[in-house]
Amino acid sequence: MKIIYSIDEMRDQSRQAKDEGKVLGFVPTMGCLHEGHLSLVQRSLAACDFTIVSIFINPTQFGENEDLETYPADLPGDRRNLEALGVDVLFLPSHRQIYPDGYKTFVSVEDITTRLCGKSRPGFFRGVATVVLKLFNIVQPDIAFFGEKDRQQLQVIQTMVRDLNLQVSVAGLPIVREPDGLAMSSRNVYLSPEQRPSALALHKALKTAAGLVKNGETSANKIKETMRRIIGREKHAEIDYISVCDTQTFADKESIDSRALIALAVRVGKARLIDNCIVERN
Ligand code: PAJ
Repeated sequence: MKIIYSIDEMRDQSRQAKDEGKVLGFVPTMGCLHEGHLSLVQRSLAACDFTIVSIFINPTQFGENEDLETYPADLPGDRRNLEALGVDVLFLPSHRQIYPDGYKTFVSVEDITTRLCGKSRPGFFRGVATVVLKLFNIVQPDIAFFGEKDRQQLQVIQTMVRDLNLQVSVAGLPIVREPDGLAMSSRNVYLSPEQRPSALALHKALKTAAGLVKNGETSANKIKETMRRIIGREKHAEIDYISVCDTQTFADKESIDSRALIALAVRVGKARLIDNCIVERN
């Protein structure tokens, strides 16, 4: 596995692989890789001829009181995991290279970013869209892989790609969970042993909500109320939002007619955890 630190070298490497007729797969990450990230990498390795993974903790997507300074990192472990899978390039740009002095340009996807995580984390999706566009411009991938755990992020990237006519296809992959159902996240390392059971409440609440819909419940309020009760029982858990909404626009729904997204964000100690599922009525 080649490790590339410079933007110019990354561009040259991509150009060379393309000249050789290779299909380029790209998995952007912030590191501290777990099975969720690695599932994206494996999909890229299976679908493409040349796989590039980036690790870059993107400062512009963190708010002032968020965890930029303490965001978990494990570069030696990440290198080992990616090397073992057979990744072609690990791209590790520095903050200075991505945001040199005098940096002024940002991308913002409107409307869909005002809801859910965009509402509780102002500026977050602006930072995400900006860095992902920059990484796409540098890496020039044919296919880029993202996880459905961050469903709103996936939708923001897909919208940006469509609106700005970017020549990349965006693939969304299912949420990878711990055996007990907790969605894998780099931030799970923040959970203490006492807090860990409370973190399970997100998955429990979603499973219960999906069960209610399956049994014919259509009222978004009733579903949210039940979810709130389940999470309310956990003393370490504090709800940020619970939403029953449109799967594309994330606008709130009052009732579930055919399809809906159920999404939530919950703070457990220092960790802000998110999870979601799509429910369908037939
Ligand atoms: P990060 O949180 O490191 O996640 C990188 C990718 O892994 C994202 O596409 C995310 O949705 C996916 N992922 C994380 N946990 C997952 C899980 N349990 N199952 C499946 N996929 C999972 O998301 C980011 O980084 C950043 O915002 C980034 C896109 C890199 C821009 O800075």
